Amino acid sequence: MDDLLIWRKEFPTLESTVHMISHSLGAMPRRTYESLREYADTWTTRGIRAWEEGWWEMPVKLGDLIGGIIGAAPGEVVMQQNVSTCVATVLSCFEWSGLRKKIVSEAFNFPSNLYQCHALERVGARVVTVPSDDGIGVPLERMLVAIDGETRLVFVSHVLFRSSFVQDLVTITRRAHEMGAMVLADIYQSAGSVPIDVHALGVDFATGGSVKWLCGGPGAGYLYVRRDLWRKLEPRFTGWMAHKRPFAFEAGAMDYADDAYRFLNGTPAIPALYAARSGYEIIAEIGVDRIREKSLRQTARLIELAEGAGFRINSPRSPTQRGGTVVIDVPDGAEVTKELLRRNFLVDYRPGAGIRVAPHFYSTDEELELTIREIQTILRKKSVAPVS
Ligand SMILES: Cc1ncc(COP(=O)(O)O)c(C=O)c1O
Repeated sequence: MDDLLIWRKEFPTLESTVHMISHSLGAMPRRTYESLREYADTWTTRGIRAWEEGWWEMPVKLGDLIGGIIGAAPGEVVMQQNVSTCVATVLSCFEWSGLRKKIVSEAFNFPSNLYQCHALERVGARVVTVPSDDGIGVPLERMLVAIDGETRLVFVSHVLFRSSFVQDLVTITRRAHEMGAMVLADIYQSAGSVPIDVHALGVDFATGGSVKWLCGGPGAGYLYVRRDLWRKLEPRFTGWMAHKRPFAFEAGAMDYADDAYRFLNGTPAIPALYAARSGYEIIAEIGVDRIREKSLRQTARLIELAEGAGFRINSPRSPTQRGGTVVIDVPDGAEVTKELLRRNFLVDYRPGAGIRVAPHFYSTDEELELTIREIQTILRKKSVAPVS
């Protein structure tokens, strides 16, 4: 008996598609229709008054729902538009010259994260990216050695987007702090799928978005900053929402708010925040531990089915090192993916990795079998033999 399947009726898209793409776009909850209607009604009926009746506080109030999922306390998470703006906020808190100017990351960090790091080389930063040997994981020892006394920031993904490899954030964070460096964790591919507790880990910053496992749609990224650091950090990427007295409209230099508002910038993406809410509520109601338990079982089954079909797996086999996605390497993976989409099997493809397949709490075991069978059928039609 799979108790979580009761949630299927809350996700209308599951009636017409085999949704195996929650690492990229989670299914839309039925309740999101109502939330977006509420946004439109509020705009229409309350007009400008909506700001003081809730909109202004929404980036922090909604952040509290995320906080409940990732182990942060109320008031410690703020909503921005996406991970890229959250990363820009964090990176703009530091100087990138002098002795501590090194950023340590993994070569498989999400590319846009690395684009921002490399852009800082123009102002003095040194970026060191730790490579993977097998195209799946990042050797922990190599990561730890890269973190030294010149390191300002360790910018790591909790779960790698291309292989679903889970990094050891406990050990990485410990090493970073021993060396006097801070840790920014990209938890986009874990939050809502793999349990994470930012307080227990002691990471300094964590960021992610809502598009994937949290079923919240685009436009709602979040940023957690360790509370005891707030007063010490003054992001250069900022805006009037971060001001202590935003409605005084004071000219001149910034006077940062004392609380987490100091990590905001301009007008928030209010409709996206309405859209994101129901996904968070559902994930919180189910609990990430239960989601993880099911995910481990289903990803193991997917690996078994894919290997049985003769496909190569580009994700970790060890359950403790595997996130919620299984990456399956088949010949002409990009083309096979296009055909799968045409047949209403929702997956995606990453060059050099393979077809990314991800069940979530609403997936049935039968859908795992159907997905592998469909790949086989497509390949058979193309008369291309699978590689092992
Ligand atoms: C791990 C990870 N980080 C960051 C991003 C990009 O986030 P955003 O588009 O919100 O900047 C993605 C998107 O796929 C991702 O998978």
